[in-house]
Amino acid sequence: MQRVIGTFLSIVIISSLFSLVNCSTRLSDPCQITEKVLFRPTEISSCFDSLDYDQDRATKTIDTLQQIVSQYIFKDISKDSGPPFNIQIDLDEELGQIAKTKYDNDFLMHQAINNVFKKLYDAHTMYHKPWCYSAMFFFKPFQIYAVQSPDGNDPIVKIKGPTLTDDWFIQQYKSAYGYDLNSYQDKVIKTIDSIPAWKYITEESQDVWASKDINARLNEYLFFDFHEMPLAYENIPDEFVELGIENEKTTKFPIVGYSMFSYTNSSEFHKNCLKGVLSTTRDFQKNIIRENANSKNLLPPKRILHEKLLTSLSATKQHDDQEEIPETQLKYSSQTETETKTKTKTVTEAKTETEIENRIENKINSGELITIFQKKYGISFKIYNETNLKSNSETLHGIIRIYNFAPDNVQGFKYQIEQIYDYLYQHDVEYLVIDLRNNGGGIIDLGYQLFYYIFGTEEYPDPKIGNYDFRHSDLHDEMFSKCELNEECLNEKDNFFSPKYWLDANEKEFESNIWYFQGNNYTRGEKIHGYSSLVHEPVDLSWENTNELYYKPEKVLVLSDGRCGSTCAVFAAKILENELAKTVTIGGKNDLSVKVSPISFPGGEVEDNMFFLYQNYLFSSYGITLKTIFPNFYSDQQLTFAWREIYSMNNVGNGKKDKNVIKNEEILPLEFTFLPSDYRILIWDLENDDAIIPETISYFNYVPTPIPTPTPTHQINHKENAEPISKHYYILFISGVLTAILILLLIIIVFIVKLRKQSKSKTTHKLIFDVDGENEDGFGFSLETSSDSFQEKNDDELSQIDNESQ
Ligand SMILES: *[C@@H]1O[C@H](CO)[C@@H](O)[C@H](O)[C@H]1NC(C)=O
Ligand SMILES: *[C@@H]1O[C@H](CO)[C@@H](O)[C@H](O)[C@H]1NC(C)=O
Ligand SMILES: *[C@@H]1O[C@H](CO)[C@@H](O)[C@H](O)[C@H]1NC(C)=O
Repeated sequence: MQRVIGTFLSIVIISSLFSLVNCSTRLSDPCQITEKVLFRPTEISSCFDSLDYDQDRATKTIDTLQQIVSQYIFKDISKDSGPPFNIQIDLDEELGQIAKTKYDNDFLMHQAINNVFKKLYDAHTMYHKPWCYSAMFFFKPFQIYAVQSPDGNDPIVKIKGPTLTDDWFIQQYKSAYGYDLNSYQDKVIKTIDSIPAWKYITEESQDVWASKDINARLNEYLFFDFHEMPLAYENIPDEFVELGIENEKTTKFPIVGYSMFSYTNSSEFHKNCLKGVLSTTRDFQKNIIRENANSKNLLPPKRILHEKLLTSLSATKQHDDQEEIPETQLKYSSQTETETKTKTKTVTEAKTETEIENRIENKINSGELITIFQKKYGISFKIYNETNLKSNSETLHGIIRIYNFAPDNVQGFKYQIEQIYDYLYQHDVEYLVIDLRNNGGGIIDLGYQLFYYIFGTEEYPDPKIGNYDFRHSDLHDEMFSKCELNEECLNEKDNFFSPKYWLDANEKEFESNIWYFQGNNYTRGEKIHGYSSLVHEPVDLSWENTNELYYKPEKVLVLSDGRCGSTCAVFAAKILENELAKTVTIGGKNDLSVKVSPISFPGGEVEDNMFFLYQNYLFSSYGITLKTIFPNFYSDQQLTFAWREIYSMNNVGNGKKDKNVIKNEEILPLEFTFLPSDYRILIWDLENDDAIIPETISYFNYVPTPIPTPTPTHQINHKENAEPISKHYYILFISGVLTAILILLLIIIVFIVKLRKQSKSKTTHKLIFDVDGENEDGFGFSLETSSDSFQEKNDDELSQIDNESQ
């Protein structure tokens, strides 16, 4: 009896407890979201389920997308791009399908749109859900990296550390789930969701849309997509990630969410989804104009979003309210710019020596990696000081890292480069590494300006500023025709639709927009479509390298992880196609027979739907009414897209010989051209300079011959890494014989130089890489210079350093 009562009582208690729990979850609104309070995937999906799918919203969204996509420059080629990338997406068709489908909720309709754009593998071109969703992110608890396996098998995946290093994140994760994320550093991950870790990463990275090159996708996944999942593009993830960590039992780590905005209840959340978080908090028209005037879309959308996340995470409490966060874009406003400019001025006055910080980062073998300038204006500078133990001589390698081409302050960017060049010049730094890892691009002018600063403005086979064109569309037709008929628009030099903006092949202004209308018909994706003629944009190339320090191709390496995109890709492609440097690319597939590209998504120019709204506003201010409907979403979702395309610069990649007869029909846009890297390094710890830099510089003057001239350890390395080249044995034999002759010559030359040296004054060393030694005019990139004369200068310089240190 007692037992029965006991059971009865416990049932009552348990069931009442259950109903209590039920009550409390029902009472608290599923969309009650508080900033900096982590939530779980199921919590947010119950919130998203509360906003129903609506046919009318879907139709409006798809209509708008199709209007914008007409201006997408790769719309036609993406239908069937052919090799090497084989993109096959019919955007109109696939978007049309979405309009006909019913989804379980509003969020999933937007997700379906994301999934279509992902298949373009174009980092410039992506749909961005309304901000009520897009301001949310999910995180796996850890960032990861990988190291080469000693047995040559799949790389070993390891934990780098917590996803967010902010204390609140680590503490909240610990108090909620009991895991101390800091205690897992460098532990080996054997399996992820029961799949061998490297296999899991390779498979998952296939869907990364940041690049058309699978190797860059893999790097991006390791570095970014594994741990950070923005709901702007991604679906709600699973509840857990199950990690098999070495020497520990398999653990299910909760995946956690974060929102940049707070909501008190569902109706507030829905209101923001339907009207737009942004449009409810600001004067819409005023702001699009300010934003367009001050900050164009300089970076690919994913990077911009990531920047916003970082800003949101680091924002102080009082800045964390809803009104402020969307305004982060305005950090490039004119006010801040003048502030930073004055700062630059004081820095200029303060001058170099105090700023130079010789922090010894690490000692590796016979070299030291020394930070000379910390990252500033998006640029850092290091020296790798390699000591030859035999001759007791040292060789200096300068490593300029360009993080992006979108500095807050362009003058600061240039100032930083000038400081670096002063250093290179003053210290006779012999080799140069241009480090373009994880560089999402930026201001295209700056890309061209830096190229000519580093390599000089002499004539290269390719056009000074790349060949670009536009896709014909009703909207473009109307804008290009009406602008030239309106005096105000015609004379507005800064307006892209004015004939005065673009330059022709001879770098002359146009009188009319006939260049747009009399273009070319290309057959792309099996249909003919019209494109404009090729135009160039005006770029001021007056920024000069006052030290006149220009490095020969043999002395320059470009370092990349494949994630050098947009302006960075154009900058790097210009170097590659003019053969001004060799390239070293890290990471990618664990298979050296796979070719990797140092660049991704060169595109041409990225714009979004707001750009067209802004143009509409400008046109109406000129008194022009446009009949074609302007793309305008019902809420604050966005579509960023590649608006114009740049072509492969001298067509080398496509096997065309005659650079002067570029037939437009025959050439591929640079976006669809595969430029392979010269060398590969299998390092997947993408930011580990201490490992990457010494490996990279081992490729200077590297000639793949069977005769072992370098040190034995390097020889093994190079043989592995440069396998495809070493296949032509007869060439190798001949080059081996030539090398022997060169070495003989070298010895003679060194001898002569040493004799000559005694009578030389120090000032003759001003241009250390000038083949002629004393003649400034003869200085340049003359490719006919044979390698022995480089070697001469090399030794010349070494002996100079020897003399100095004595
Ligand atoms: C939801 O929150 C908003 C803003 O805090 C408030 O004005 C509104 O009355 C709330 N609605 C409901 C149904 O609780
Ligand atoms: C480079 O290394 C050598 C020998 O280790 C040392 O004497 C020299 O000072 C170093 N140079 C720089 C710039 O640190
Ligand atoms: C392109 O096609 C259009 C329509 O068929 C035609 O009017 C135009 O002349 C063509 N342009 C060129 C350059 O062939």
